[in-house]
Amino acid sequence: MSTPADLRTLLGIELPIVQAPMAGGFTTAELVAAVSNAGALGSAGAAYLTPSAIHALVAEIRLRTQRPFAVNLFAGGIEAGEADPAPMLALLGPLHDRFGIPPPQAPGAWPYDFEEQLAAVIDAGVPIVTFTFGLPGDAAIARMRAAGRTVIGTATTVGEARRCEAAGCHAVVAQGAEAGAHRGTFLVPFEAAMIGTIALVPQVVDAVGVPVIAAGGIVERRGVAAARALGASGVQCGTAFLDTVEAGTSAPHRRALAAARDRDSVVTRAFSGRPARGLVNAFEQQVDARPDAILPYPQQNALTRPLRNAAAAAGDPENISLWAGQAAPLMLHDVTAADVVRDLAAGWA
Ligand SMILES: Cc1cc2nc3c(=O)[nH]c(=O)nc-3n(C[C@H](O)[C@H](O)[C@H](O)COP(=O)(O)O)c2cc1C
Repeated sequence: MSTPADLRTLLGIELPIVQAPMAGGFTTAELVAAVSNAGALGSAGAAYLTPSAIHALVAEIRLRTQRPFAVNLFAGGIEAGEADPAPMLALLGPLHDRFGIPPPQAPGAWPYDFEEQLAAVIDAGVPIVTFTFGLPGDAAIARMRAAGRTVIGTATTVGEARRCEAAGCHAVVAQGAEAGAHRGTFLVPFEAAMIGTIALVPQVVDAVGVPVIAAGGIVERRGVAAARALGASGVQCGTAFLDTVEAGTSAPHRRALAAARDRDSVVTRAFSGRPARGLVNAFEQQVDARPDAILPYPQQNALTRPLRNAAAAAGDPENISLWAGQAAPLMLHDVTAADVVRDLAAGWA
């Protein structure tokens, strides 16, 4: 069994705490660097960035820290097949009118190419590269390993964790059902992989020889202590960092997090077409009442983006994705990333 010391050595960090990558503008260079400078591992979510934006973000992080950091990509998840966008366009039309933006358009080609993104991450010299929604091909993992990069995959089942290890990952994130935002599931239908963190982590620890990083519902010191007791070598926390001063979280999202209660959390395909956990709001309820109209990922994501952007700019929490894990009511508010790292680290100690 791998130990916490193995993970710290592998990642070159003092504290076995990983700030989760959060694509969509949350994980700013300021947040990633502040976490790494506090002795944990900062991670940038780059799934919605072009190669040039990835280079720019990595340069910004390097200006702010000399310590190791990670960059994360979505290695899969694109659903094949054409779906009729007309019902969703009809549903979105009145909402676009309300925010005074042009009528919704059928989504064009998805603007992000995984192979180009991966090439940018490798060219930029990122030391730790993490993946969710699947894994890159074996040859790409072998190239990263040969170049001295650390590779980490995400698993939501024991089988996915074994696949990550067999593919050459140095460590695995075990993502429990409590986790905020998208499910990382890639080998089975997502409904078959809603395993709670307390059940999943020890099973993954028993199944693989590489360090296991527990994720999902860990937002303060008690969750970290629990993860350690389950045999995890470290923790990965997303929600915990969403209301830090360095995060790129919008004002209405922060307000909703501050008001979150235990029963507010739902897994929904309404925003992106892929199951993801967030706080219930009007858009989620309206769209989940019409599951037939939801387009596959990432078409639904592209289609709802203009509305989400307009709603965020207007300060409206009812028409944006309010990503959060089930433990959001326990998170700290109006704090720095270093404050959060300090609290989580107290749980490990
Ligand atoms: C706003 C948000 C965005 C996320 N985006 C990503 C992502 O881009 N890549 C990824 O691997 N995980 C992503 N996650 C999931 C985290 O890696 C992690 O599994 C999750 O945050 C753990 O649960 P917690 O939110 O309860 O801490 C995201 C989580 C949140 C809250």
